[in-house]
Amino acid sequence: MQKLIITGGKRLGGEITLQGAKNSVLPLLAAAILCKGRVTLGNCPEITDRYAAMRILNHIGCRTSGSGDITETDTTSVGCCEITDELMREMRSSVIFMGALLGRCGKCRLSFPGGCDLGPRPIDMHITALCRMGADITERHGEIICTAPGGLHGTKLTLPFPSVGATENIILAAVSADGETVIHNAAREPEITDLAGFLNVNGADIAGAGSDTVRINGRKLSPTGEIYRVMPDRIACATYLSYAAIVPHGEILIKKCDHTHLDAVIPVFEQMGCTVRVFGSNIYLRSPDRLESPDTVRTMVYPGFPTDAQAVIMSDTCVAAGTTVFIENIFENRYRHTGGLGRMGADIRTEGRVAVINGRERLYGAKVSAPDLRGGAALVGAALAAEGVSEIDNVEYIDRGYEHIEQILSSLGADIRREVVLS
Ligand code: UD1
Repeated sequence: MQKLIITGGKRLGGEITLQGAKNSVLPLLAAAILCKGRVTLGNCPEITDRYAAMRILNHIGCRTSGSGDITETDTTSVGCCEITDELMREMRSSVIFMGALLGRCGKCRLSFPGGCDLGPRPIDMHITALCRMGADITERHGEIICTAPGGLHGTKLTLPFPSVGATENIILAAVSADGETVIHNAAREPEITDLAGFLNVNGADIAGAGSDTVRINGRKLSPTGEIYRVMPDRIACATYLSYAAIVPHGEILIKKCDHTHLDAVIPVFEQMGCTVRVFGSNIYLRSPDRLESPDTVRTMVYPGFPTDAQAVIMSDTCVAAGTTVFIENIFENRYRHTGGLGRMGADIRTEGRVAVINGRERLYGAKVSAPDLRGGAALVGAALAAEGVSEIDNVEYIDRGYEHIEQILSSLGADIRREVVLS
């Protein structure tokens, strides 16, 4: 186990270059399976989820290697379409391999996915859609067994909720299916647009990605060999903005981001009294002496306020003057960070999907555990602002989505180090 030791109260200031998006690199690595050839991705984040996805690719017979932000994958041969329980448990998004493997091999076998525990995370929409496209899917003893005896075919689908993962899985299955697939009420997240962009570069015919209706005409893909750069990570961007915001007079310049992905997030920082400027692919933020509580934060599907940024903004509101209300509309169990924040002195009450935070003048360092990826990032934020020393264990969760977090925060002036705990 590893932990982060943070001595809070240091002023943060400086510039950083944003990592590529975790939630984009994973579907792009799954999409590589459909390309039957050499695929090179650039701007890949150095996070453990990327390496877990690469292990899955190597396990099924592809040859994948990563160096820095480049991932090279040769998907000419796929010898196996089963993903072991151990690999599947490493991350929930491994369910994304279902559509890609069905499209490539006409069958696949995987166990129910692992990943962060954010309450029940069913995959009924993925399964219903793939069955409508001709797949035969059975679930037995925690395993999902999929076959497409007559091949996959295009169809019209209307999602009951614009699920990101279901939209991605359907696109992956549809690019090599017979005929046209239309997804109504599709997710509009930028990661969907990135996935479609990558597939289109490699010969797919996908229109409407980023809107609520996506049309995919099945056809044979042919990799171009061009490097495809993963989009910037909008959630890591929101996280580093929240870190600069939580300390008095914090200042950050984040380079290589896309501020248009943060239209619902930037106003919250402004309501808290921060000065935010965007220019080109840069975002600059300066925080005031003390933050003020923002209007009610309601998480929603894109372009609404992202659920993945709820936890890190909540840390900011723990030290803001006034009361903040959060309403979590996407996941049922997404307030697990409130326990750790409470240990650090935050005044938070939760009931169901609502959290009410009464901002305190200060937080205090404490020993806490990262409950999940974004919740862990929120505890880091609180520790940066807290008086005294905090120890955050379960750092493995944080490493799933944030590259070199302690180096980046040290470069901004934080007092942070990593310790390996020998058990
Ligand atoms: C993705 C992101 C995650 C983000 C989430 C919402 C990745 C790897 N993960 O997760 O970081 O928090 O989008 O923006 O990209 N649902 C069902 N049945 C289904 C599928 C989903 O009921 O078949 C429900 C989920 O339980 C959840 C909601 O729909 O309550 C949203 O889930 P979804 O959009 O699918 O999120 P993920 O793709 O899992």
